[in-house]
Amino acid sequence: MDYSEKVMDHFENPRNQGIIENPDGIGVEGNPQCGDIMKIYIKVADNRIADVKFQTFGCGAAIASSSMATEMIMGKTLEEAWELSNKAVAQALDGLPPQKVHCSVLAEDAIHRAINDYRVKQGLEPWAEKPGKKHCHESE
Ligand code: FES
Repeated sequence: MDYSEKVMDHFENPRNQGIIENPDGIGVEGNPQCGDIMKIYIKVADNRIADVKFQTFGCGAAIASSSMATEMIMGKTLEEAWELSNKAVAQALDGLPPQKVHCSVLAEDAIHRAINDYRVKQGLEPWAEKPGKKHCHESE
């Protein structure tokens, strides 16, 4: 299987791996295709992601996707972080092998859950997932 140098770099040197004590939001997402799990912790200040960390119990592509996704949302507004798609993460990694694209969906979904966990704790309505959002983007 061919992984880009960026995937290998983020897999071997993951950024933002770990946990945040007393996070403002936590998102846990499992991949129904393989049973792997990703956990995202966020700290929010002034409506921005002030800190983000991840724990991924999964394959190398999922770890690389989590690492890249956390780098991409760090410092962003919650609205911007919500818009991060698994496609953008895969592109930032210079692509994933087709059979591994589903692994990057975990990051997008776990971030959404963390943001909504934060919103609910603030007494706000959770944001809705875009209608028609698929869990498997392999055909795109
Ligand atoms: S094979 Fe499970 S997330 Fe990649």
